[in-house]
This record gives sequence, structure tokens and C-alpha cells, in this order.
Amino acid sequence: MVKYYDESRFLGQNITDLANIILTGDTRQRWAYETQIFADAMINQMSITERSLILDYGVGIGRIAKELIHKTGCSVIGVDISEDMLRESVSYVSHQNYTAMSLHQYQNMVKEGKIEVDGAYSIWVLQHCDFEPAYQTILRSLPKGAPFFIANTINRCVPVIPRGWADDGLDIRARLRQDFNLTRDATNDLEKHLPENHYSRVFCEFMCKL
Ligand SMILES: C[S@@+](CC[C@H](N)C(=O)[O-])C[C@H]1O[C@@H](n2cnc3c(N)ncnc32)[C@H](O)[C@@H]1O
Repeated sequence: MVKYYDESRFLGQNITDLANIILTGDTRQRWAYETQIFADAMINQMSITERSLILDYGVGIGRIAKELIHKTGCSVIGVDISEDMLRESVSYVSHQNYTAMSLHQYQNMVKEGKIEVDGAYSIWVLQHCDFEPAYQTILRSLPKGAPFFIANTINRCVPVIPRGWADDGLDIRARLRQDFNLTRDATNDLEKHLPENHYSRVFCEFMCKL
């Protein structure tokens, strides 16, 4: 799987290209609306305050991080595999409480035990990843009891060389249950705010680390 993973799918010259990649060409309206809805749900459910340090795994250009920082004054570390996404996230979020970090740098800090966050979220990311290494990176930086939010497609869609998206059959929801307690299944509440073609194809869950 790793051998065929096409990272170039997440590269783009400018913020418009990258935003199109993130929401697969959907409208600006979706961007504004979904970002608000997800940020508000996380603030309520995860008790995010100005004292919280939160990991945004697969931050993209930082749409959610920007909103959370603006609304709560929390600090966010944005991690992404794409250098282009990370570069744009710095100018898009443009706040001293935001730190962009390469995946490699973050993984090293986790391995060395140099980082622990108060909570984490990963939105439309783990469906695409070489799952286990990505997941372990999130898991190991969370203390016991810490909250985690995921929004994800039910089926996997891994970008593969030379083209297309592959489903390796991995059941992410079931895998998460081995390490997290489900605290709220927010799928019904949140999916109704997404385009109709997402209904019954996604899950949105809050959990806390066992
Ligand atoms: C659909 S976008 C979602 C971005 C952001 N979470 C949002 O909702 O605006 C998927 C993001 O995951 C990133 N990504 C893909 N594979 C990754 C991996 N293995 N580790 C970290 N980030 C990854 C991509 O570069 C891209 O920014």
C-alpha cells in the first residue's frame, strides 16, 4: 500500500487549488458552513478553551484550526504530509497560537516523548492515509482520557499511483474502538449539513482515549 501511495494528490500551487482539493471541488458555501458547524461541535463536546493545545492531524490549509483559535483562543499544532498545505496554512491561519509542523518533525517529537496535546481531531484525512502509522502518531500524542474527534468516509479512499482512489477494506471505526471510548456519535447531526451525496457515506464521532 505505502509503495503506491500518491502524495502528490495533495500538492497545489496556491490556496484556491488546495481548497479545491480539500473539499473535492465543492462550493465556498460548503467551506464556510461546514467549518463553522464542525468547529462549534468540537468546542462544545471537547471543552476547548484558551488553555488547550490541540492537534489538527491533516490540517490542510488550516480552515478548522483558524476557526477554533478565533473562537476560543486555544493553541493548535497543524500536521500534514503536504508541504504545500502546511505553507499555506501558516498564512491562512496567521495567528501566533498556530504552529505548522511537518509529519516527520511531529512524529520525531512524539517518538522522543517531547509532545503531548490536550486533544486532537482529524477531518477527512484518515480515509486517505497509510492508516496505522498515521493513527499511531495521533494516539501516542494523546494522554489517557483526552478527547478525539474524527470526520471520515466509511469506506477508504487511498490515493494510488497512477490514478484513482483505492479501498483497502480497512474498518477505521472498528479500529478506533480498540483504543477509544465513543462519547458521542454525531454522524446524524453533522452529516445533514454536508452535501447530500455524503449521506450514509461518512461518520463523525467524538471519543476519549482509553
Ligand atoms: C481532504 S484534506 C482535509 C484537510 C483538512 N482536515 C480540512 O478538513 O480542511 C486531507 C488532508 O490530509 C493530508 N494528508 C494525507 N495523507 C496524510 C498523512 N499520511 N498524514 C498527514 N496528513 C495527510 C493531505 O495533505 C490533506 O491536507
